[in-house]
Amino acid sequence: MSLIKLNRVLDSHVKQLVEKGTVKGIEKVVVKVEKSDGINGPRYYLKGYDNQPFIKMNANSYLGMSMRPDVIEAEEKAAHQYGVGPGAVRFISGTHSVHVDLEKRLAEFHSREACMILSSAYVTSLGVILPLTTPETVIVSDELNHNCIIQGMRLSRPSDKLIYKHNNMQDLDDKLSQAVGKGKRCLVITDGVFSMRGDYAPFDELVNVCKKYEDHFEEGIITIADDSHGVGAYGTTGRGTEEITGAKVDILIGTLGKAYGVNGGYVCASKEVINFFRESTPMYIYSNPITCSEAAAALKVLEILDSPEGLKILAHLKKMTEKFENGLKVLGYETIEGPHPVVPLMVRDTAKTADIVKYLTDNGVLATGLNFPVVPKGDEEIRFQVNADHTEKDIDYVLKVLENYRNL
Ligand SMILES: Cc1ncc(COP(=O)(O)O)c(C=O)c1O
Repeated sequence: MSLIKLNRVLDSHVKQLVEKGTVKGIEKVVVKVEKSDGINGPRYYLKGYDNQPFIKMNANSYLGMSMRPDVIEAEEKAAHQYGVGPGAVRFISGTHSVHVDLEKRLAEFHSREACMILSSAYVTSLGVILPLTTPETVIVSDELNHNCIIQGMRLSRPSDKLIYKHNNMQDLDDKLSQAVGKGKRCLVITDGVFSMRGDYAPFDELVNVCKKYEDHFEEGIITIADDSHGVGAYGTTGRGTEEITGAKVDILIGTLGKAYGVNGGYVCASKEVINFFRESTPMYIYSNPITCSEAAAALKVLEILDSPEGLKILAHLKKMTEKFENGLKVLGYETIEGPHPVVPLMVRDTAKTADIVKYLTDNGVLATGLNFPVVPKGDEEIRFQVNADHTEKDIDYVLKVLENYRNL
């Protein structure tokens, strides 16, 4: 037995990605982080880039919480109290009081009866979709949903899968009318914020369209949203797309690993739904939870977020986002407008995307070029993500670099 033949096939696959220009390539390694001094935001140092400081415009850490001394202190304290790992899956002996407290806090935060935490939002989506999908279930999904939803649908075995055009509520209505008669249960699944574009699903309209078809399904239409890029960062108090649209979905998925700056995923819903998941979600039952330290850090972040300081952080994030978005427009770059801190620069060309990303890197700015298949062909872009620990000076600097590129 050997890997020689398989190595050849897999190597050729990766080489094809290189030729097409869609390879993700060697990852940049952060070797040092310098904290913000108030005028400049945090600076990152990378292996192989000498002593060049970088401004990170590609972090999901929207609230800038991960470097805060009080959050780090909460994390350290829990490590001393409980140890650095959970020791087992939850039902064996891995449940600690901080896990229970965090679930209670997140349920309250999203005004739900119950919450369950998992090791990431990716596995949370799988862990919601798989056990809810019976052979008598139809799934209806937005065409631009995140990969975790796509994989969840691939792994589950519904009676049918219907894909509606991105955020197109008329098309959702059409697909729901096609779903009638194909199952007892219908799952309508969407991202909250779509991470590649920074736009969001209109939950209010979506819920209204779904209501029209409720009586056609014996076990109901269940609206599910993965708002990983919305929770914490979006809305006046950080409740995410639900706050922006003023409407609630039935099952809400979030991550602790983006705005909150920690790690882990969660799902909020009714007591009955969460009890069912605790008994049926393999990724919960057979896999370790997040560490106690992570849970304690997330609790601290929620405490800060729900304080007057949290409102200030969100207001600063909004201000920096607007400043950057307006700056791009003034420079004549195309973007997708919206209040979310994901600000895409639409390039619509793979080679040019790589060229701009290289120029930014050469000038101390980290941003991510997104190409097919991560985004549809023709939507190639550079995704900038504004964080609350970016300062006015940081944003001015990044815009200056983009101005210089435009004038080359
Ligand atoms: C919509 C959505 N869901 C899930 C994830 C994954 O989150 P996590 O890192 O917590 O697994 C992402 C991350 O990009 C996302 O955009």
